[in-house]
Amino acid sequence: MSVTAIIAAAGSGERFGAGFPKAFIQLGDRTLIEHAVASLAPLVDQIIITAPAGFEEKISDLVGTEITVVTGGATRSASVRNALALATGDYVLVHDAARALASSDLAQRVIDVLLGGENAVVPAIAVVDTVKVMGDDGYVVSTPERSSLMSIQTPQGFKTSVLKQGHELGTEATDDGALIEANGGRVKIINGEERALKITNPSDLNRALSFLGFNETFRTGIGTDAHAYGVGRPLWLAGLFWPNEVGVEGHSDGDVAAHAICDALLAATQLGDLGSNFGTDRPEYAGASGVQLLQETLSIITKNGFLISNVTVQIIGNRPKIGPRRSEAIAALSKALNGASVSLSATTTDGMGLTGEGKGVAAIASALVYKQ
Ligand code: CTP
Ligand code: MG
Repeated sequence: MSVTAIIAAAGSGERFGAGFPKAFIQLGDRTLIEHAVASLAPLVDQIIITAPAGFEEKISDLVGTEITVVTGGATRSASVRNALALATGDYVLVHDAARALASSDLAQRVIDVLLGGENAVVPAIAVVDTVKVMGDDGYVVSTPERSSLMSIQTPQGFKTSVLKQGHELGTEATDDGALIEANGGRVKIINGEERALKITNPSDLNRALSFLGFNETFRTGIGTDAHAYGVGRPLWLAGLFWPNEVGVEGHSDGDVAAHAICDALLAATQLGDLGSNFGTDRPEYAGASGVQLLQETLSIITKNGFLISNVTVQIIGNRPKIGPRRSEAIAALSKALNGASVSLSATTTDGMGLTGEGKGVAAIASALVYKQ
């Protein structure tokens, strides 16, 4: 018993509109064609890929030379026929590169049903929408009973001789099962899977990525900090030491910009705040610098699966003048956050309130994070 897998990848991906064939679209760490090969390769004895004309070599470069690459035809059926001519297996799986995330488990279940004696096997999931048949005049012809309608997926499995017969007349169909049906053959339906979705439009990518564990849900948080000036104290602000400036009171180095960013990150990730993470019950953080707290905060949110999209911080105070050292400060904050995107601005409050009266310095920060 041997099995050939045909992966149809010769389409141009018109609807996706990437400007290059769909099989080369990157999904996570690899292209669609590489995903499809990875899930079928462990189960089959031969793989044949149909390539868009001119892209044969590019596909070989991606998947390796043990895999046969043939030039596709003008239609999917024509492409499959080109590959079928080279198939040596007793059974054949026909798969769409566009259904890149179909699992090995699904392919194995298709093979098992073939080995159980079926000639043709197609995976399917129930249709959620009501489906209507529309006439050429734009009016409804009929409404088929939804409970008997199924959305058909790939890989589809066939006894090779039976599929060759189905393709003999050169009939066009959007799946191979239809060619068996047209010959009066019986096609067995088995349970498909959500992750075998066909990537057709750009909006399908997010759903596909979610099956790979990517979840691009962004979350924001804000943080504020303020410290009163304290004569004789050194000033640390935005990760920098500011000589000849009056410092601020407090047990830590009093870096309000760093502290506000820490709070914004912890708020965005719902992991508490500075006090709950580094408060008096954690004596090892007594006297920790702003930079250290940023590094610790990054490590906490990273452990919880979050990545930083960007952070912004605004320093509010009469002194020091931030402008001349803005780039240096951004670099220091960004370095503490492993290179995250940081923006920094500064303002005064027109003589009003805490910092306007010259009593201290404050900062407000926002953070945007996402989970991977
Ligand atoms: N396919 C093929 N040969 C063709 C047309 C399509 O091998 N002449 C393959 C596609 O590469 C795809 C699968 O058949 O993996 C299903 O086709 P579809 O999702 O329609 O892909 P495209 O034809 O590339 O997309 P579009 O119709 O938007 O151009
Ligand atoms: Mg197409």
